[in-house]
Amino acid sequence: MTLSDQTKQRLKTQYGDWAIVTGASSGIGLELATQLAAAGFNLILNARNEERLLTVEQQLKSHNIDIKSVVADLSEKDGMEKIIQVAQGLKVGLLINNAGYGTSGLFVDALLDSEINLLRVNCEAVLVLSHFFAQKFKQQGRGGIIFLSSLVAFQGVPYAANYAASKAYIQSFAEALAIELKPFGVDVLAAAPGPVESGFGQRANMQMDNAMSPDQLGVPILAALGKQTNVVPGLLSKVLTYALRTAPRAIKVKIMEKVMGGFTQHQRSEIA
Ligand SMILES: NC(=O)c1ccc[n+]([C@@H]2O[C@H](COP(=O)([O-])OP(=O)(O)OC[C@H]3O[C@@H](n4cnc5c(N)ncnc54)[C@H](OP(=O)(O)O)[C@@H]3O)[C@@H](O)[C@H]2O)c1
Repeated sequence: MTLSDQTKQRLKTQYGDWAIVTGASSGIGLELATQLAAAGFNLILNARNEERLLTVEQQLKSHNIDIKSVVADLSEKDGMEKIIQVAQGLKVGLLINNAGYGTSGLFVDALLDSEINLLRVNCEAVLVLSHFFAQKFKQQGRGGIIFLSSLVAFQGVPYAANYAASKAYIQSFAEALAIELKPFGVDVLAAAPGPVESGFGQRANMQMDNAMSPDQLGVPILAALGKQTNVVPGLLSKVLTYALRTAPRAIKVKIMEKVMGGFTQHQRSEIA
């Protein structure tokens, strides 16, 4: 999928010249960076793995754009600082808070340190970067911020309790900022995909059924920025969302118990 020339032009005019994509080395972040490169944005790309990030930089340079790669771990405070430093003096108009990961299984058996680390990457880094760039965008009277929420954000999810709670934070934060920042000319979008085939499943130790390919997500997410404040990209995600929409919250939690129970079933058979 590719963005129409009209949408590329609109995005570039409203949010150019530079866009920041955290977690740009794989999956959804890589797809968003690729679509933005094709639209002519200069890019600040972030991830931890230097080799993978530099490979992406090389690939995207064929679009004749400037790219600055920031190898940084967003679970650490100086990770966000590095991105902010690199952005100094550049005309940044778009922040994509994409870096994130999941954990799964029974919370009671989880390693507390890794659950706290998840909150740092999925929530604290997003809070810090959004605060800095919202101020910058308010000052310049234009900008856009995209948040990677998830279908798991809308109810408790047994066997991914902390991950789902981190995405509920993102969803709620984005919805509120969309209203607060609108008068300053800053557009905010929460994108809530269902299962996506990426590095996510392996890191979260989930075996996800019916996962979408990342290349089905970039266009609907970017095309929605400035037009709406929430987007559910992909047909399957839409079907799941609408099917669950009218269910009472307690029922939704039970349904998610079944869904996530399926994605994490192998963990129980590994133990048995
Ligand atoms: N896949 C899904 O089913 C799904 C569904 C809904 C929402 N989401 C959300 O979409 C976002 C992207 O996930 P994805 O599916 O594209 O996963 P992915 O393929 O694993 O990509 C995650 C990206 O984030 C980077 N990253 C991870 N930890 C980081 C850290 N501590 N500091 C800086 N960068 C870090 C990774 O690079 P390095 O490992 O090199 O750091 C990678 O570039 C996440 O926020 C996720 O929660 C995913």
